[in-house]
Amino acid sequence: MAELSPSILSADFSKLGEQTEIASAAGADYMHIDVMDGHFVPNISFGAAVMKSLDSQDTAPYDVHLMIENPDDFLSEFVTEKTEFITVHQEACVHLNRTISHIKSYGIGAGVALNPATPVMMLQEILPDVDLVLIMSVNPGFGGQSFIPSTLKKIKQLAELRRTSGYDFKIEIDGGVKLNNAKEIADAGTDILVAGSAVFGAPDPGEQVREFLKIIK
Ligand code: DX5
Ligand code: ZN
Repeated sequence: MAELSPSILSADFSKLGEQTEIASAAGADYMHIDVMDGHFVPNISFGAAVMKSLDSQDTAPYDVHLMIENPDDFLSEFVTEKTEFITVHQEACVHLNRTISHIKSYGIGAGVALNPATPVMMLQEILPDVDLVLIMSVNPGFGGQSFIPSTLKKIKQLAELRRTSGYDFKIEIDGGVKLNNAKEIADAGTDILVAGSAVFGAPDPGEQVREFLKIIK
């Protein structure tokens, strides 16, 4: 039993409100907001203004994924009534403990993301303090890449660590999630699956959401 967070990165931006409402009405649990700065990752996506343009739409809550350097400087811009989680990258935070506390100070769930090459043990000291761990299953920066299979080991390792230590963070996976690998990913212990091109790259995003939910709910 897992949740779905479609990434708006693959949406048609000229119809963003309409597409996110369709995905939400079909049962998507969150809207995944991929923010890229052209420094931490080799691509620029959009900023808080685009996310906030959805505040008046009837959409699922925001699951914000900041792929940016110096995230502390921008956190407040992503705080709205619809923001459920803000996730920063371990690799982008020199003072991760401080950044996690900063996110929580807004009353928002705090997440930390790991690139494919960063081991789970890098989070050992912060795990008691986070609400979400996002495991990247592609190198961040672009939608439509292929799932890196070794990521499943990290999910299992993290789920085991959570069980043995009594932590209660959610485990999220992001990158290359498709209908044909969703079951295996959910079974490994994932709580939230992000899917960008598999949902918004399809002609009927609502239908794709329903197909995912049949598999993971
Ligand atoms: C990648 C982003 C992902 C991306 C997923 O840097 O963080 O959220 O949009 O896209 P797909 O599902 O197409 O791999
Ligand atoms: Zn993402």
